Amino acid sequence: MRIIVLLGAPGSGKGTQAAVLEERLGIPHIATGDLFRAAAAEGTPVGEQAAAFMARGELVPDGVTIAVLEERLNRPDAARGAILDGFPRTRAQAQALDQTLERRAARIDRALYIEVPSEDLAERLSGRWICQVAGHVYHQTAHPPKVPGICDIDGSPLIQREDDRMETIQARLARQLGALAEVVDYYRQRGVLRAVDGRRPIDEVSAALLAVVDVAPAGDG
Ligand code: AP5
Repeated sequence: MRIIVLLGAPGSGKGTQAAVLEERLGIPHIATGDLFRAAAAEGTPVGEQAAAFMARGELVPDGVTIAVLEERLNRPDAARGAILDGFPRTRAQAQALDQTLERRAARIDRALYIEVPSEDLAERLSGRWICQVAGHVYHQTAHPPKVPGICDIDGSPLIQREDDRMETIQARLARQLGALAEVVDYYRQRGVLRAVDGRRPIDEVSAALLAVVDVAPAGDG
């Protein structure tokens, strides 16, 4: 079982890069934010609870988050491993993940930290557009779609995320960066942390991450 953790501030490029890693490594991309948005859209109790925290830019409580992640990891497509995007986000979540993996005789392969200075993050988030059907990620200047407002991959309309409004962006950055630093330290102390410079263009960040997980970039044979 190969477990890769993707760490980074809101807007650092975790989702963008997880899609690349998923394709190259052949293990699913699991994002707790996506699981919460899907649950909220379905109107489940977990979804309603999570939506209230997300709207305030706060982390969803650990108990709910850990349960949601464990349920997802139990699905058959994750039997060979997963790329975890946005989990863990607190020390308690990191410890719970270690325990879950221990029960499966597995452990974290790498924790990949996409480093982006905080002054760049608000611009990344406010310029982001995602497709309505599958959440494919675009940016109005750094990664625009070929046809404005339309997803290149599935042709669905592009929308902005509810929590990408400027006041919620500021709250997310103010409330979540401290917890991120703790999780980065947690994995640094365990010797599995690898940091990459997330300010570079998307394909260069992908190449750096693939090198760290020992996969040649596409086109390199
Ligand atoms: P979540 O959905 O995980 O949001 P996030 O961490 O805030 O991260 P984002 O999805 O906003 O950004 P990203 O790093 O994936 O960047 P992206 O690739 O899109 O979580 C949402 C909420 O759910 C949280 O606020 C919290 O409430 C809750 N939650 C989720 N998990 C939780 C947990 N474990 N515990 C508790 N609560 C939890 O890129 C951003 C933009 O930049 C895009 O437009 C992209 O095109 C562009 N871009 C990407 N890379 C580059 C580049 N290299 N150069 C220029 N532009 C780039």
